[in-house]
Amino acid sequence: MRSFLRYLAALAVIFGAMQLIPSYEKSNPATDPALEIQEPKEVVEIFKRSCYDCHSNKTRWPWYADVAPMKWVVRRDVKEGRKALNFSLWNSYDEQKKQKLKKEIFRSVELAMPLPQYLWLHPEAKLGPKEKKLIQKWASDGKGYIDYEVR
Ligand code: HEC
Repeated sequence: MRSFLRYLAALAVIFGAMQLIPSYEKSNPATDPALEIQEPKEVVEIFKRSCYDCHSNKTRWPWYADVAPMKWVVRRDVKEGRKALNFSLWNSYDEQKKQKLKKEIFRSVELAMPLPQYLWLHPEAKLGPKEKKLIQKWASDGKGYIDYEVR
């Protein structure tokens, strides 16, 4: 029993120490609303539901974004996600960058996005076949297919 208590105490100390390790910032920077993506409502609604938590400045931060070790993962995903694609800044991108991102969006909804560790806790963000089609149609300017070369 004593050794079990000691074990618990050691765990508590480790957990407490982990909380002191600095992590990325948790913030939702104020952004000019004019820069936010303005596209057909049905497309933007899907982005808001399934992508905005990592790809906008309007992240709905979960409570575990304040608790190590989960906060390391969550905050890193948001930081990297915003860097790759930020729907809150969409209209500040030039046409070339938008086209490149659209190609990546087309591909990512098929393969990688939203990230699996996110879907595990947010099953409602999973894209159905109709939603994928809708996004891909938008991303390919109505063509429904895209040439896969992403420059
Ligand atoms: C849990 C956070 C998270 C969610 C939710 C998420 N993404 Fe991402 N996304 C990331 C991260 C992190 C990266 C950067 C990956 C990298 O650099 O390797 C990324 C990268 C991307 C990229 C850049 C190209 C690439 O594949 O690296 C695109 C496009 C993208 N995401 C689209 C989407 C779309 C569309 C959705 C919603 C359907 C979505 N993401 C949802 C975290 C997320």
